Amino acid sequence: MKIIEVKNYEEMSKRAADYVVEKVRSFPGITLGLATGGTPLGLYRHLIEDHRNNLTSYQNVTTFNLDEYAGCDETDPHSYRYFMNESLFNHIDINKANTFIPRGDGEDMEREAQEYEQLIASHGGIDLQILGIGSNGHIGFNEPGTSFQSQTHIVELTDSTREANARFFDRIEDVPLKAITMGIATIMRSKEILLLVSGPNKREAFSRLMHEEVNEQFPVSVLKNHPAVTVMIDQAAGCLDYTPGSGDLEYVPHD
Ligand code: F6R
Repeated sequence: MKIIEVKNYEEMSKRAADYVVEKVRSFPGITLGLATGGTPLGLYRHLIEDHRNNLTSYQNVTTFNLDEYAGCDETDPHSYRYFMNESLFNHIDINKANTFIPRGDGEDMEREAQEYEQLIASHGGIDLQILGIGSNGHIGFNEPGTSFQSQTHIVELTDSTREANARFFDRIEDVPLKAITMGIATIMRSKEILLLVSGPNKREAFSRLMHEEVNEQFPVSVLKNHPAVTVMIDQAAGCLDYTPGSGDLEYVPHD
């Protein structure tokens, strides 16, 4: 796990965008795994800016998003499809037919989950997966206790996740109770992972990631078993907490 410490959210977003742009330029047919939430918004803003200024093309790029709320169709402003269209897809030259997000409004969610898993496999898997982290250590919507063997599946959201995401809704009661998410095994099959960690409310989760053993009660810890993970973290999220020499960590302090 390589940990790159940056000064603040803006610097993290810019570095993450440079990282992604470099991958897209060297492999125009790349399959990206994408996340929603507040953390990657700056990354997406920089990708759009780069697309406008430097003409990086996404015409041959395929994307798979991590998750979607149950019961939200793409016209619902709370849906992750809507979020991705507004935050990224509408502003770059990607073919929307190549952007995949699990459907939260399908009649048979279990079948949707299985088909999503097969779809990822049929595209040869994900080359680079972008991840954020929940304050309880979730990745995607894989809450504490989720099996590391899990494939794309339906989940009940925990109270802490619904509270954290209530900021995108008028009232917490409006936050869906369920979601569909890539499983931990799905995420772990990505060839490479870029984890973005920003802000004081991620401090404790990052500290746990540094100090805890890999365990299913803290889903993000599984990334320690992945051979190609880069973490970009800002100082507010607490890099100072890092202990040199722990495990296989490679630490790149900010300059
Ligand atoms: C989003 C996702 C979640 C978020 C996590 C952090 O698609 O799967 O795991 O990455 O909840 O959310 P933010 O970035 O809003 O703090």
